[in-house]
Amino acid sequence: MHKTLSMHTHTCGELRREHIGTEVTLTGWVWRRRDHGGLIFVDLRDRAGVTQISFDPDHSGGEAFHSAETIRSEWPIKVVGVVRERPQGMENAKLATGNIEVLVSAITILNRSKTPPFQIEDHIEAGEDIRLTYRYLDIRRPKMMANLKLRSDFTFAIREALHRRAFMEVETPSLFKSTPEGARDFLVPSRIQPGHLYALPQSPQLLKQLLMVGGIERYYQVAKCFRDEDLRADRQPEFTQVDIEMSFVEQDDVMGALEAVLHDAFAALGVDMPLPLRRMDYWDAMETYGSDKPDTRYGMKLVDVTDVFEHSSFKVFAGAASTQGSVVKCINAKGAGTWARARIDKLEPVAKDLGAKGLAWIAFREDGSINSPIVKFFSDEEMAALRERSQIEPGDLVLFAAGPRLESCEILGGMRTHLADALEIERDGHDFLWVVNFPLFHWDEDRQAYAAEHQPFTQPIEDDIERLDIEPLSVGSRTYDFVMDGYEAGGGGMRIHDAQLQAKILEKLGFTMESAREQFGFMLDALEFGAPPMGGFALGLDRVCMLLAGADSIREVMAFPKTSSGSDLMSNAPSKVSSRQLKEVGLRLE
Ligand code: AMO
Ligand code: AMP
Repeated sequence: MHKTLSMHTHTCGELRREHIGTEVTLTGWVWRRRDHGGLIFVDLRDRAGVTQISFDPDHSGGEAFHSAETIRSEWPIKVVGVVRERPQGMENAKLATGNIEVLVSAITILNRSKTPPFQIEDHIEAGEDIRLTYRYLDIRRPKMMANLKLRSDFTFAIREALHRRAFMEVETPSLFKSTPEGARDFLVPSRIQPGHLYALPQSPQLLKQLLMVGGIERYYQVAKCFRDEDLRADRQPEFTQVDIEMSFVEQDDVMGALEAVLHDAFAALGVDMPLPLRRMDYWDAMETYGSDKPDTRYGMKLVDVTDVFEHSSFKVFAGAASTQGSVVKCINAKGAGTWARARIDKLEPVAKDLGAKGLAWIAFREDGSINSPIVKFFSDEEMAALRERSQIEPGDLVLFAAGPRLESCEILGGMRTHLADALEIERDGHDFLWVVNFPLFHWDEDRQAYAAEHQPFTQPIEDDIERLDIEPLSVGSRTYDFVMDGYEAGGGGMRIHDAQLQAKILEKLGFTMESAREQFGFMLDALEFGAPPMGGFALGLDRVCMLLAGADSIREVMAFPKTSSGSDLMSNAPSKVSSRQLKEVGLRLE
């Protein structure tokens, strides 16, 4: 931090043995105060760290000591004193400044503080609501401070890595038009044009493609995105992307550039991301891990046993095995085979939440016995084949899903994550990979229509284009998700730059020419003016920082996040506005 500031000479994190004998001025908050037989010790805290300061009634007339008797937790103070070695046995090895203390000769009380509603400590009992209500106090906690610092460092590093590679940061508007990213829009009414509304961008997707048409060639932006969707630990209604787009490039150029940028940004934080990144095909990820964002730091892979149960007398399995497009798959949760029946039974509701009709299971007990509601239906051959396929040992719990392929994979993928948590499987270090070639479309049950898996401007795989009409769900796309530690940390793809192909895809997605023109006619127009080949990506900055910080929610790396019901507890947003304000924008509330 700046040393030329007039209010202090050093931060609370930087004094060491070499400063012994120096007169220093420090500012910060009173953290912990201890009275010790006539001496007062205070831990003084600022954003850089903690320094012990001591007050002695016999020192400099005792004036500072008497002031120190009045100070309380979280009062900001300024002290002048001399750095001295701590007496032998009084050092604190856990503290960077633990070998020294400052003997104070003068203290200025800069302000007072009410008793905080919770202790400013890393391990606090306080619930999240109270932390969010007094977020400015929560941010004083060293852990929150460290998280925000980490976020700042990572953002700076990735900006630097992009800048060095000739990417240009261009800002795009927040008051814009609805963009089709799949979530609901936040709407902003216009005062000047009553009855007309802006939409806050779900991402700068269309705008960055237009910047490519504009010739920017290498764009990036640390961009706020707004999506009105149900919130979870890794989702907020407004979040930040490091948004990137390149033109006159092929897919490998884009992925190569992204890898280099990500590698440098992680390296700046001391995290090694080995290059080149592994690429896993979407279908391999689904078949092997039951997820399009697999955590590959542990096994428990999905095993296909469809053929084993083709003629089984267990009808659930035989039925699936003989149905076109259906499978019988299983995972082997090593260690869970010792669980009591009651604990295993609690897994079925978990599977049902994931969409399963039931959860067949076999527990292989340590004593060699078998516990299972279904093995009575299995022949010796089926058991033998299963044992071999799943590499069964005593102590294993095998869980099955029988039914449509994708659904069954997803159910077991969810169970795999659930069991990894329950079994506390070690997941050391970070896990990075690309998942590539997502399907272009999926079937949207609610709308009874095809929907874009990524977004409507995504380039199909050239060889698959001929199947657009006959088998649209089998068409692949030039897409890539950046997966980190089992999270979707980023995603992107190559874009369509051909107006005719774009029109065809929009038609498949159920747009009429009019509805497409109304929503993004400007984009379709731009394609007609020499749009270059292009592709890009967006990194979920909050998620990456959460994983780097070892936090379990993106709220821990955001200064002022919202609760799961979308509230800001500090300001009470969203809130009512005056009827005059509503009238001005031409709105009347129901
Ligand atoms: P996508 O929708 O996959 O792609 O978003 C990119 C990344 O943003 C993060 N993310 C979120 N983080 C927190 N809260 C949310 N509600 C949230 N939603 C998404 C995820 C995700 O991987 N325009 C395309 C990118 C492109 O094709 O270039 C897009 O927005 O980490
Ligand atoms: P049932 O014969 O329907 O009572 O099912 C016997 C066992 O198989 C129960 O433990 C069910 O939970 C389980 N089960 C039922 N349907 C499926 C399915 N589709 N996949 C896996 N297990 C199932």
